Amino acid sequence: GFSSGQSLHSQQEAVRRVTVIGGGQMGSGIAQVAAAHKHEVTLVDVNSEALKRGQAYMVKSLKRVAKKKHSDDEAAQSRFVDEIMGRVTVSTQLQDAVGRADLVVEAVVEKLQVKQELFARVSEAAPGTAILASNTSSLPIGKIAEGLEEGQRRRMVGLHFFNPVPQMKLVEVVRTEEADAQVVERAVAFVRAIGKEPAVCKDTPGFIVNRLLLPYMMEAVRLLERDVASPRDIDTAMKLGAGYPMGPFELCDYVGLDTIKYIVDGWHKDGAGLKGNPLFAPSAKLDELVKSGRLGVKTGKGFYDY
Ligand code: CAA
Ligand code: NAD
Repeated sequence: GFSSGQSLHSQQEAVRRVTVIGGGQMGSGIAQVAAAHKHEVTLVDVNSEALKRGQAYMVKSLKRVAKKKHSDDEAAQSRFVDEIMGRVTVSTQLQDAVGRADLVVEAVVEKLQVKQELFARVSEAAPGTAILASNTSSLPIGKIAEGLEEGQRRRMVGLHFFNPVPQMKLVEVVRTEEADAQVVERAVAFVRAIGKEPAVCKDTPGFIVNRLLLPYMMEAVRLLERDVASPRDIDTAMKLGAGYPMGPFELCDYVGLDTIKYIVDGWHKDGAGLKGNPLFAPSAKLDELVKSGRLGVKTGKGFYDY
């Protein structure tokens, strides 16, 4: 386990080996960016198909960068992609995959119990000096960590990335009351080392960005439910009238409607300080889309068809 007797030196060492758990849109993006910045990366998923999709997504994204970087040199483009992908290993064996990690970033489905069970296993299998991080959108880090022993809880932080990970420059670093200052410092250093800008914040529901973004997205869905305007007109309005790069429905589809539903349902039922808040009341429209498998861009259909 993680003990306070460990030397300051080993705790402050820079992160080199990163294990990302969950090979979906976020996990594959985090793996890509870490590998592009010279880290050794292992990407883990329970589903080997998800790992294949994740790899394909990374290659596609890197090819786009390669084309910009080496515009008329196809050999250099391939070398660029191959070199980065050469640092990414995929695995379905959680135990082995975290065994040598300096940092573990969890990016599985937004369900408390799944994350709690995962961290119970990860905290046993990862080296005692590893930082344990969750990319959760909405769950308190302290709640995910509540079943772990104190020494484990001290090395747990939130590292909240934004979608699409390669393009979005922010990472929220969530500092729980129990987290060691050095763990938070190392996490901040990692964020800078992968070319992102950290914003450190307390462990409150939605941290900074989602606490402001989710009310906006849900209010857009309520406008639609009241038939004020079509998704297309609402999106156009916010892009051209407020300067947002995507409208709220494009953004909902991009994030994933299942993820949005888990976030707002969780807060409405149980979220510290948000329980019963009408901003996060269930939406019949959202429920219906999720029930019919229209989860957004990742399934090819959401508010829009792709
Ligand atoms: N790897 C690395 N960098 C890449 C890249 C890749 N694969 N692809 C593009 N880039 C770089 C580009 O070179 C460019 O960099 P510079 O500005 O330095 O030139 C930058 O990323 C932007 O690239 P694009 O050309 O793709 O930008 P765009 O203008 O087409 O915008 C967008 C695309 C960034 C997605 C934009 O539409 C946007 O910001 N949308 C809103 C996204 C958003 O709000 N996300 C947050 C969702 S909420 C969330 O994630 C939290 C949660 O918990 C739910
Ligand atoms: P996703 O559905 O694209 O991917 C989730 C992946 O996790 C799937 O491939 C699934 O097979 C895998 N998985 C599920 N249980 C697992 C387990 N026990 N062990 C290993 N793998 C498992 O989801 P996503 O959009 O990548 O979101 C992942 C996490 O990131 C969620 O917590 C979400 O709230 C958060 N997040 C999402 C966004 C977004 O915009 N989508 C942004 C920031 C944070």
